Amino acid sequence: MKILAIETSCDETGISILEVKGGKKNPTFKILADELSSQVKIHAQYGGVHPSMAKREHIKNLPILLEKVLKETKLKKVDVIMVTSGPGLEPALWTGIVFAEQLGKEWSVPVIPVNHMEGHVLSVFGKEKGKFKIPKVSFPSLSLLISGGHTELVMSKSWREYKIIGETLDDAAGEAFDKVARMLELPYPGGPQISNLAEKARGLGERGLGSATVRARAKIQQNFMGAESEQASGMKLPRPMLYTKNFDFSFSGLKTAVLYLIKKIGKLDDKTKMAIAKEFEDSVVEVLTEKTLRAAKDYGIKTLIVAGGVSANTELRKILEQKIKERKQKFKLLFPAKKLTTDNSLMIGIAGYFKFIENPKKRYKIKAEGGLRL
Ligand code: KG4
Ligand code: ZN
Repeated sequence: MKILAIETSCDETGISILEVKGGKKNPTFKILADELSSQVKIHAQYGGVHPSMAKREHIKNLPILLEKVLKETKLKKVDVIMVTSGPGLEPALWTGIVFAEQLGKEWSVPVIPVNHMEGHVLSVFGKEKGKFKIPKVSFPSLSLLISGGHTELVMSKSWREYKIIGETLDDAAGEAFDKVARMLELPYPGGPQISNLAEKARGLGERGLGSATVRARAKIQQNFMGAESEQASGMKLPRPMLYTKNFDFSFSGLKTAVLYLIKKIGKLDDKTKMAIAKEFEDSVVEVLTEKTLRAAKDYGIKTLIVAGGVSANTELRKILEQKIKERKQKFKLLFPAKKLTTDNSLMIGIAGYFKFIENPKKRYKIKAEGGLRL
């Protein structure tokens, strides 16, 4: 079966063609063509995604990308079309939906609406190119979905079954990265920028020291100074909702705390920016890690999936792996390939396939749903 997958929920236009063999139990996916057109440069001027600009860009890009994937694969049509129907920016979502539905008519093939967040969950099974098989997944699984628009902890007892057990009450994690980056006069998207600065700050603190020394120093700091050392330097930021019993998050207060910190400091030199970036990233990583691992323990999970734009964050990956080991928590940890952390159409193709084979005869009346939930 050949699938055309389309993603236009935010600021990336994605179209890919996948070939799937093996039915429901043991499918193998082969990427025949995968095109992505990022609008990051355009939105960077506005410090964030501009919805009507995003819509205009999708309208321009969709036909170009379609022609590319058809040429690359030498195909005239496919067997089924998968398109993101939400959540996301509705004007942007509609461009993909209308385009997909017209193609569905032209080729007389079904069009399947796909939940973008389900796409992020399944992105961990994809590869950047070539073939991939879906491994056997042990349930229950927990997914930490962290992107520019979402921060959610989602439990699954089986395939295609989702229950949100916690989510952000205000800003999403990625949104906080983007807003803090703007305060530090860094370009959009802020996540990679903050992450680079934070890494530099960590490196600076460790310059000239051997790795054993670095670890031994960290141990004495952790044991004997803890929060004190950061507080002494006036850089300590809060860890919002770290100790609340539920699995919800809040990042808006943290962003405000950064704003006050910047006001207090007055002038932002490069070293100060690096220190703030590091402390901010440490805070987000600590809250995400602690709450996720607590949920993992409480629910006795067998698989942990971490996906969405923020899952590209190196520090988050490192700390999660480290804490799971330290606490001897026994479950499989899955991250997407780096290219599949941010929005892409491959993940929509994978998620769409599982929805389609569950009920191949079903036909959908598709509409854009900006606030669609899992
Ligand atoms: O999943 P995604 O591409 O789009 C949405 O569906 O929102 O996520 C984009 C978000 C942006 O907020 C971006 O700053 C953040 O992911 N991001 C990161 C990193 N790379 C991207 N955040 C932290 N660290 C990163 N390395
Ligand atoms: Zn996304």
